Amino acid sequence: MHSTTAAPLVRCRAEGLDTIDADMLCAPVFLPDDARGGDDDAEDLGPLDLAVGGALSRARASGECTGKLHERFLTDVIDTTWRTRRVLLVGAGPREHYDAAVARTVAATAGMAARDRAATRLVVWCPPGCQAPGITQAVVEGVLLGAFRDTRFKTRDTGTPPLAELTLALDGSVDQQDQTDAERGAILAECSNLARELANEPGNLFTPRVFADRAIELVSGPRTTVEILDEAAIASQGMGLLQGVAQGSAEPPRVIVMKYEPEDAAPGPVLALVGKGITFDTGGISIKPAAAMDLMKRDMAGGAAVLGAMRAIGQLAPPIRVIGIVPTAENMPDGRAIRPGDVLTAANGMSVEVLNTDAEGRLVLADALTLAQRLGATHLVDIATLTGAVVVALGHHASGLVGVPSAWVDTVRRAADTTGEQVWPLPALDAYATQLKSETADLANIGGRAAGAITAAMFLKAFSGELPWAHLDIAGTAWYEMATPSHAKGASGVGVRLLTELPFALARDADG
Ligand code: BES
Ligand code: MN
Ligand code: ZN
Repeated sequence: MHSTTAAPLVRCRAEGLDTIDADMLCAPVFLPDDARGGDDDAEDLGPLDLAVGGALSRARASGECTGKLHERFLTDVIDTTWRTRRVLLVGAGPREHYDAAVARTVAATAGMAARDRAATRLVVWCPPGCQAPGITQAVVEGVLLGAFRDTRFKTRDTGTPPLAELTLALDGSVDQQDQTDAERGAILAECSNLARELANEPGNLFTPRVFADRAIELVSGPRTTVEILDEAAIASQGMGLLQGVAQGSAEPPRVIVMKYEPEDAAPGPVLALVGKGITFDTGGISIKPAAAMDLMKRDMAGGAAVLGAMRAIGQLAPPIRVIGIVPTAENMPDGRAIRPGDVLTAANGMSVEVLNTDAEGRLVLADALTLAQRLGATHLVDIATLTGAVVVALGHHASGLVGVPSAWVDTVRRAADTTGEQVWPLPALDAYATQLKSETADLANIGGRAAGAITAAMFLKAFSGELPWAHLDIAGTAWYEMATPSHAKGASGVGVRLLTELPFALARDADG
């Protein structure tokens, strides 16, 4: 019962809207440009307006349907020759702003509204004026992300059934590229929704060992192997920082190692994706306050994103090797837990003074970055719900991005731009690293209040072995605090699309 995310059947069609059989037809409706004077939608929506007996033009005239972003207008089909009987128009804003990112959120609103109305077979019409590259994929992503509901732990009110079928009604003709784009969107959305499910699972049920089992189940494939390091293997790798974090918990730690290898792999770049997998973060002896501590079940969202991305990568088959590593543990206070002031030895031999046991993410990630180098990585990316400070800096609309050199950081930025997951750079200046000086050991695990998101990143940089490295702090973006017209409350699945795009981007860069 741990997943309800079976991907629906997704297909593209170019026949008349009247012939497609579904529970609901969704279409975007644009905000008229007053300056240009007039309703430039009229032409696109004319046949649809006829089928609904003019309800659309009446709603336009009365101001009920304006085309404002995320606005919804639902009406019945009057024309008895149509097979689909319900129409949902979703406001898409000004037509000239309609790009893949807008298409994704408009489609998400459609997916969510359709799910609310128990429509399981959906057709989304992409009018002629808005078929641009990237839109088909984005529309599929949006519908499936918007239709996501997590009712796994409800035994009574289980809500509406999941989406079973999604048809994109395209203008003109459907070619192989359309179908490929739609399938890519379906894979990315399914893997994002799986990551959301993992992050939503409560800490009592989702322990490091369960995380490892889930990786084997969800990621193993023809080109992808999954290997789990248990306590003994973790000890023999010398991962003292991970061991230190885990030692206050009754649950043993694990390291999940996922390796993707393309067919005929040539020597070349090897991308490592490293995700924080703290299945529950109490803070340890430096314990957190009670308010909202329940949300610390999400502290493995970075690890979930790596798992989701490795599954997508196995299906989309980029031309370079990718290694996914998730160090997973539970951070608990206990008689055996680490104390503030304790000194631990990292896998790379450095000593670390733990001044605050709540700064545990950087500890487990540091050892995982060392492991990535041992496994032959040439490029590093880590993703983590790492600091409250990044939420202060960037809020909930962009993930923090820190790294070196700037060319590699730019690659990550551009990948985020294509997938529509907003990131924003913070400076990796060496001066910030001085805040991590320890009286006792090589390095302290906290750097004071100032620039907390950057000093956390500088700690990780010390374990990057001078490889190109980029760090994504998703503490503010891994979770939707509220439901909106386009997404449910809870885990966002942030990072899956971006991390999946990276091996393609890196391969293009390596090609020159
Ligand atoms: N998991 C938290 C960071 C976090 C905070 C994630 C809020 C999501 C929402 C992390 O392990 C942590 O506790 N960080 C501390 C670091 C501090 C002790 C230097 C923090 O941000 O307060
Ligand atoms: Mn913490
Ligand atoms: Zn944490």
